[in-house]
Amino acid sequence: MDLRTLFSEHLAERLAWASRALADTGYEALVISSGQPYTHFADDQEAPFRSTPHFVHHCPLRGPHHVLKVEAGKRPLLIRYAPEDFWYEQLPLAALWGGEPFWLASFDLVECATLDAVWETLGKPSRAAYIGNETDRAGAAGLDPNPASITAFLDWGRSFKSAYEVRCMEEATVLGARGHSAGRAAFLAGASELEIHHAFAQAVGCLDHDLAFASIVALNEKGATLHYEGKRTFRNGKTLLLDCGANVRGYASDITRTTPGPGCDPRFAALVVGMEKLQQELCAEVKPGLSFGALHHSSHLKIGALLQSAGILKAGPEEAIAKGLTRAFYPHGLGHHLGLQVHDVAGKLAGPGGDLQPPPPEHPYLRTTRTIEPRQVFTIEPGLYFIPMLLRPFRGNEHAALFDWKLIDELIPCGGIRIEDNILVTEHGGRNLTREQLPT
Ligand code: GLY
Ligand code: MN
Ligand code: MN
Repeated sequence: MDLRTLFSEHLAERLAWASRALADTGYEALVISSGQPYTHFADDQEAPFRSTPHFVHHCPLRGPHHVLKVEAGKRPLLIRYAPEDFWYEQLPLAALWGGEPFWLASFDLVECATLDAVWETLGKPSRAAYIGNETDRAGAAGLDPNPASITAFLDWGRSFKSAYEVRCMEEATVLGARGHSAGRAAFLAGASELEIHHAFAQAVGCLDHDLAFASIVALNEKGATLHYEGKRTFRNGKTLLLDCGANVRGYASDITRTTPGPGCDPRFAALVVGMEKLQQELCAEVKPGLSFGALHHSSHLKIGALLQSAGILKAGPEEAIAKGLTRAFYPHGLGHHLGLQVHDVAGKLAGPGGDLQPPPPEHPYLRTTRTIEPRQVFTIEPGLYFIPMLLRPFRGNEHAALFDWKLIDELIPCGGIRIEDNILVTEHGGRNLTREQLPT
């Protein structure tokens, strides 16, 4: 199906959902702005701009200060901020999109050259909820800024991806896989963290800030820093943990591969093989009706078994979990929802009403406690790391004898392992979007 048809079906579903949100919460209109950029303190420089995700959920037009008005039963009004400017390039829509944008026919469009004109065009809709960060202007227009009832409702709706969104994420996966292949090849040729990052961005074909998130390019021991963002320049690392994704029309891919290189400790390389096997088993366990928490528990059982078979732990998986030993090697959650944000919203919601279902106290970093349902997209990303800070308390406590400390100390320079795929839930199970493009 072409993008125009996919998008118009996507928007129809979004408008129906927004109408339900309005009816349930007592508002009559929903106003969403793409938002204003953040300006660094005491500076005239802005942080790279990211649109309000709820705006992108309804309209892929890029750039700040656009405003969208949605009312039940009406065509949505898109007010595009399009200033005349000689400091920064401003282009007509057709030039920006290389022809008429595929989404344009779905909106009534008004173009405004000034911010005042944007908000005058919007007027003062009665009983309107506003989503975005231009809260001063929204307040002056009499709008109710970011009411929790509406944001929860909209967040919940973001959990169920339309065919248009799946298309965007498929494209982001193609680019992410291309970047990963280039990054891995650069690593195996001896490249530094900085060079591997450049190889990834070059293959994706974008600027750093247009990637889905700050790239994680970790050689050796830095693989044990979960969100390591440094870019060192030494070459010929022995292990690479590469966690990078691309962004297409606002939608992310989030892919991790761990590659043992020349000179890598063979015991670490064997752990990577074991992690690959168990990660694929976990992907195969995805099915509607299962709780994500149960899958997370399954991942601890498998990682506990791997630690035991490698001789790192001298306890079986059940005992290792009960004593908190697996969490010392695997402190994060198995995965998170993925979409307009890398760590997408609504992972801990119990429903559109906004009630929360928090993770259990022993798994505080679990980012989703949801029941698995068709049309969700989430990551499956088990990890196994040698993190000195987390291991330290066990060296002297009552469980110390259950660890092989000599082996652990020899593996600490290898950092850690994470393997991450993006899964679309179907009626029958999981569709692994990542492996379709990046089989290993
Ligand atoms: N890329 C960050 C994460 O996997 O959560
Ligand atoms: Mn992730
Ligand atoms: Mn990731």
